[in-house]
Amino acid sequence: MPRACPFGAPKEYAELREREPITRVRLPTGRWAWLVTAHDAVRRLFTDPNLSANRVHPGFPALLAGQGGINPAGFLPWMDPPEHTTYRRMVISEFTVRRVQRLRPRIEEIVTTHVDGLLAGPRPVDLVQALSLPVPSLVICDLLGVPYADREFFQTRARIMVDRNAGGPERLGSMTELRTFLSDLVVTKQNEPTDDVLSRLAVKYREAGVEDNEHLAGMALLILVAGHETTANMISLAVTYLLEHPDRLAELRDDPTLIPDAVEEFLRYFSISDHSTNRVALADIEIDGVTIRAGEGVLLSNGAANRDAKVFDDPDEFDAHRDARPHLAFGYGIHQCLGQNLARLELEIVLGTLLERIPDLRLAVPLAELPFKNDTIMYGIHEVPVTW
Ligand code: HEM
Repeated sequence: MPRACPFGAPKEYAELREREPITRVRLPTGRWAWLVTAHDAVRRLFTDPNLSANRVHPGFPALLAGQGGINPAGFLPWMDPPEHTTYRRMVISEFTVRRVQRLRPRIEEIVTTHVDGLLAGPRPVDLVQALSLPVPSLVICDLLGVPYADREFFQTRARIMVDRNAGGPERLGSMTELRTFLSDLVVTKQNEPTDDVLSRLAVKYREAGVEDNEHLAGMALLILVAGHETTANMISLAVTYLLEHPDRLAELRDDPTLIPDAVEEFLRYFSISDHSTNRVALADIEIDGVTIRAGEGVLLSNGAANRDAKVFDDPDEFDAHRDARPHLAFGYGIHQCLGQNLARLELEIVLGTLLERIPDLRLAVPLAELPFKNDTIMYGIHEVPVTW
């Protein structure tokens, strides 16, 4: 189901939510699964212990051929309890609001440096390459404790890994290089711990008797993968939306205290990770008159839930004044996004800085020419040429 317009939800969602909020759909792979579109049902199912996130389960509803079937070590979102509980507990303290707020000055510095670079460079410039991708990737370098000397290597590989224009083998090659790099970094942090997430995790793994370095390297790669393209797409979409809606832009510029609420509303409105919250039933589940049988796939559409008029008045309107918090853009329940506080902070700082520093920022091409990524994995934009 393609999105109706660059910023809209697929139009089928509203009709399904009305008529049959838990419905059978055929996946691009040809298999069948349940699609859940009502906020209330999506939220209840997120906390149902009979739904598993295990991608090697034969019933897992992979959206593309070859997408399921692997469970790399350390990938939290694909683990079930009790394994998931053990590892999430080890890392959760790194992402609390308080811990993340400590990163504010450093994130501001990273954003300022990149906006300075952008202003000093030629116009038009691609916002994605100049700002949206490097900011989250550098923040994650800091978080993990990637040494300065290795940042260029790390950044280029990370960028190729998420570049949909790069070929499959090139992307896979970058992922493999990063994995090797992170495995080596884990050993370094074990021997010479520094003040960063990876060093602290190395200590916790050792205390818990987990000797598997590949697991820890996998967790580090997950933090990179999960926090890089997601945040980059949110930055690009939010800026593009604002440049196309001058009244909304003026509202935020006149009252920057609205920015945190606008960020929340952008998360609800775009729901970029709509397709990442899939599960498979481990036992029969009765819900709202429907029986989901053991072994059947379930797509918990946070994108559809986030446009449910029972929870959000006028759900297709972007409104920075609403309380968008009940949105499910970060999922819900045990797998709810670990990096949500960090993502919020990055978005807040980027938007605040851009509005202040480049008041006459504008798109350098018409909206219709922007390469939106309307694919099955994640929603976003490949390239946003801007000028001022
Ligand atoms: C705006 C940006 C982001 C969005 C929209 C987003 C979305 C999501 C969603 C929907 C889930 C739940 C997946 C599921 O239930 O199966 C999730 C989980 C996760 N996210 Fe995010 N995410 C974002 C940014 C980040 C960042 C910045 C990080 C880390 C630095 C991160 C790390 C994770 C991790 C580790 C999980 C798995 C948690 C678990 O399974 O316990 N995310 N994210």
